[in-house]
Amino acid sequence: MIPFVYDQINHWGKDDEFFLALPNKLKVESIVDLGCGTGRWTTHLVQYGYKITAIDPHEEAIEVARIKDNAGKVNWIVGDSSNLQTNTNDAVIMTANVAQVFLTDDSWKKVISDVFRSLNVGGHFIFDIRNPLVKSVGRVGEGQDS
Ligand SMILES: C[S@@+](CC[C@H](N)C(=O)[O-])C[C@H]1O[C@@H](n2cnc3c(N)ncnc32)[C@H](O)[C@@H]1O
Repeated sequence: MIPFVYDQINHWGKDDEFFLALPNKLKVESIVDLGCGTGRWTTHLVQYGYKITAIDPHEEAIEVARIKDNAGKVNWIVGDSSNLQTNTNDAVIMTANVAQVFLTDDSWKKVISDVFRSLNVGGHFIFDIRNPLVKSVGRVGEGQDS
């Protein structure tokens, strides 16, 4: 990720709106945006008044996030799931395919374990992943047109 161009090439989308509506539906108060990057999505969440912590290992990305409007209302942390506090959060969310940075079973188990440890009873772990079948369907469609 290159923080200074990331926001320019990653435009707001339907998935961002979907994620933004979830905390209200789930009636949560404290949220962690894990893998927040430049705060592209986090700084939209701020307007709803949640207690927000945002974590990313990329120091430059967090620096970009910190200078955005409303950034002062977020607890920004340079780190990873190890920095999640125990029994503290109603939801941990990973937007824009952060889940796909965990390439080994061990790294995925670690993040799930840290998230579970950090959630209050009844808490939520929310994330998306890409669906490889969508690309395959596209290829089939291309073949049918020609
Ligand atoms: C595609 S970006 C998504 C950024 C942000 N969630 C968004 O919606 O724009 C993936 C992010 O995952 C972060 N990342 C990489 N390794 C990570 C880890 N071990 N734990 C948490 N985040 C990580 C990267 O630094 C990057 O900011």
